[in-house]
Amino acid sequence: MKIAVIGADGQLGSDLMKFLRDDQLLPLYYPEFDVTKPEKAKDTLSKIQPELVINTSAYHRVDECEDNPQESFLVNSIAVRELALICRDFDITLVHFSTDYVFDGMKKSPYIEGDPPNPLSVYACSKLAGEYFVCNILEKFYLIRTCGLYGIAGCWGKGTNFVDVMIALEKEGKPLRVVNDQWVTPTSTAELAPRIGELIRSERFGLYHLTNEGQCTWFEFAQTIFALMGKKTKIFPVNTKTYGAKALRPSYSVLENKRAKEIGLSSFSHWKVALKNYLIAKGYIK
Ligand SMILES: NC(=O)c1ccc[n+]([C@@H]2O[C@H](COP(=O)([O-])OP(=O)(O)OC[C@H]3O[C@@H](n4cnc5c(N)ncnc54)[C@H](OP(=O)(O)O)[C@@H]3O)[C@@H](O)[C@H]2O)c1
Repeated sequence: MKIAVIGADGQLGSDLMKFLRDDQLLPLYYPEFDVTKPEKAKDTLSKIQPELVINTSAYHRVDECEDNPQESFLVNSIAVRELALICRDFDITLVHFSTDYVFDGMKKSPYIEGDPPNPLSVYACSKLAGEYFVCNILEKFYLIRTCGLYGIAGCWGKGTNFVDVMIALEKEGKPLRVVNDQWVTPTSTAELAPRIGELIRSERFGLYHLTNEGQCTWFEFAQTIFALMGKKTKIFPVNTKTYGAKALRPSYSVLENKRAKEIGLSSFSHWKVALKNYLIAKGYIK
């Protein structure tokens, strides 16, 4: 399949480039390809004529988004609308990514695709608006909500990822304070990317939750990183209020891969297994 990958050097984009090798991949890099410049984007896509576009771009520095609602909505909503319109005009299938943060966390059991969203932050509102544009403009789309991504390339939007931040802080001897009242499922892009490869061949369009299995708090995630590395690192659990981040985050945003299981997509590993594989791949452990 001829596939254009927007944000091909990002965290997820890099693993898509690696795991979809059997396809004809057309990497698109920012700022040469900028989703906020729809005329140029349309021109590029009309020239390269992909059958499918995978959009990994996002403005996702969650706290920064609170101060920059315009930029958040420009990248995460308006640009997504423009991209969906281009895909509709050229009969291109769109793969787009959204977030567990579209939920408010009140449910306390894993969210399925049919659960009503209620975003708490500017970032989450802008991602949800992007979702609505994709669903309302296109018939041929895969809209994927995922959670707590980490990958070998590191998250470009955030400069790094949670695992690498924890390891770097520990090396520098900095105190580790990690929130212990927000439940998530850390998800490895090395597991997500190949499942995207399966999904795009299914022609079962629509909304999907795709994450690793199991759940934990960010504190437990951090503890497990060092336990797997055989280190007895002291980590201080803090609650969300004490931590004092600018943006509100759901206290529970675990996603159930309900539709993926229904269509028989390969199952994901437990998050601890995926984390161990990541630490090995990155050379942190043998
Ligand atoms: N990271 C997470 O924990 C997480 C959780 C849930 C959902 N998601 C969603 O998953 C998707 C992929 O995340 P990721 O962690 O792989 O992100 P990432 O590493 O930041 O990658 C995003 C890519 O998009 C590019 N980009 C940024 N602005 C662009 C623009 N205006 N036009 C075109 N490309 C642009 C970036 O280029 P530069 O690096 O040059 O800026 C980068 O290559 C996003 O939609 C995100 O919202 C992420």
